Amino acid sequence: MNENETGFASMESAMAHPPVSDAPEDEAQGGGMSTAARAVLMRSAAELEEALASKLRERATSTPEFWSFSGRSRREAGHGIFAYPAMMVPQLQGALLEDVQAVDPSVSSVMDPFMGSGTVMLESVSRGLSFLGTDINPLAVLLTTVKSQVHDSEQLGKARQRIALRVTEDTADQIEVQFHNRDKWFRRDVSRDLSKLRRAIAAERRKVVRQVFWVAMAETIRLVSNSRTSTVKLHSYSTDEIECRQIDTVETFLRISASQIEQLRDQAETLSRGLGKNPSLRILCAVGDARSTPTKKNRAYADILMTSPPYGDNVTTVTYGQHSYLPLQWIDTTDVPGMRQELLENTRSIDSISLGGKLKGALASAGELSDKSPAFAYCLDQLKMHPRNAQLRFVGFIRDLDESLDAITAHLRNDAWMFWTLGERKISGISVPTVSIVRDLLISRGSRHIETLERKIPGGAKRMAYRNASVETMNTESILVMRGPRHTAYGSCS
Ligand SMILES: C[S@@+](CC[C@H](N)C(=O)[O-])C[C@H]1O[C@@H](n2cnc3c(N)ncnc32)[C@H](O)[C@@H]1O
Repeated sequence: MNENETGFASMESAMAHPPVSDAPEDEAQGGGMSTAARAVLMRSAAELEEALASKLRERATSTPEFWSFSGRSRREAGHGIFAYPAMMVPQLQGALLEDVQAVDPSVSSVMDPFMGSGTVMLESVSRGLSFLGTDINPLAVLLTTVKSQVHDSEQLGKARQRIALRVTEDTADQIEVQFHNRDKWFRRDVSRDLSKLRRAIAAERRKVVRQVFWVAMAETIRLVSNSRTSTVKLHSYSTDEIECRQIDTVETFLRISASQIEQLRDQAETLSRGLGKNPSLRILCAVGDARSTPTKKNRAYADILMTSPPYGDNVTTVTYGQHSYLPLQWIDTTDVPGMRQELLENTRSIDSISLGGKLKGALASAGELSDKSPAFAYCLDQLKMHPRNAQLRFVGFIRDLDESLDAITAHLRNDAWMFWTLGERKISGISVPTVSIVRDLLISRGSRHIETLERKIPGGAKRMAYRNASVETMNTESILVMRGPRHTAYGSCS
């Protein structure tokens, strides 16, 4: 993807408010500093880092399982409008933001280059912080866009009634979309109802309103298609099961949209609370590849990096693109920010441009990665006894992740705070030490390690593409807390 299509300056913005600061380098790094920022500078970097580490540890002193958030991870106030795979726990990220705000009151913006459903966006904005986020998957950007707007729930309720009425009055039998294997994934009665819904939503005048209902339709499609909901990979029910399934598509849509409107009412309060704390906060979310290096012109600086990259290549871990393939076929693409038709060419198109999606030439990077990360070198050594494909998958993913670190750190101010939520997996029975690898790769760029928190994932593990001996994921995840690096004019130094 070329930078003009995905870089920050040219991104199709889906903003509730103007974008986050794209202040020139000197300003972002010291000029025009607030009193809070000056007070922070009076304390040494080491003092601040120790202050954050002890705050994080304190949380777990009184409640040892604090960072697991079991029983405290409900997705509400807009966080539950779509079941996106591998979503973060909002409350956990919120607690981290509060701790860093307490230690460093000068922070004002957060970046998430793998934003998915926008968990970090909503948690940041509700705390008065600006947000800058990207994702390679346009459905993720649509979700975050809808979550970033202060909606009028009364108006949405009226729009829902209009849509219901249009569907009732629509007697056309025409199926609105054509794509390979459509009749494999949807029964004809379901396709006819989805077509009515599509026509009824498209008739709404305002794009922000249509976008809300496209999300309701996306969640409806997840439930009424012939693909099982127990896995994020497309996996069809048997012919018998498909025939026997009781499906009322319109009823499902109406139920989902009613509950979404309730959530969006709470979301409006949450966003307004954040805007009350900081009326000039800005939100920018757009389609982008985390590996795209920003140019000097389109660079924006964030004080905090809070993100969760994929666990491994999408094809064998979490198939975000495949999970979004069916909904994206039905939504009017002109309402989906950054949508391009080639992303829907086949069920793998989005996953194959995601991290670890292309493995060609990957092994050529192994030497350089081994120099940067002892953990990488150790794991590669273990994988040498296993099929070449296992090594390729490992190196290909880490090579892409490493490439993204250059682009990501270029968007951060000096000494930015970083929170990486990372899951580890196995390849051919070998545990991949992703947390240690990311830590090494960041240290090689001049960052400092502050703390690693561990979270048990309740009920086993997150929904994955497969569960088998060659590709497994684990039932814990870690939050790697780091700081830095410091930039020279165009790169970073230790
Ligand atoms: C673990 S999920 C993020 C989930 C998110 N934190 C949430 O709570 O919903 C990882 C995301 O990375 C995205 N992704 C994969 N490769 C990418 C790339 N090269 N650039 C940007 N996003 C990418 C996937 O589409 C997916 O949405």
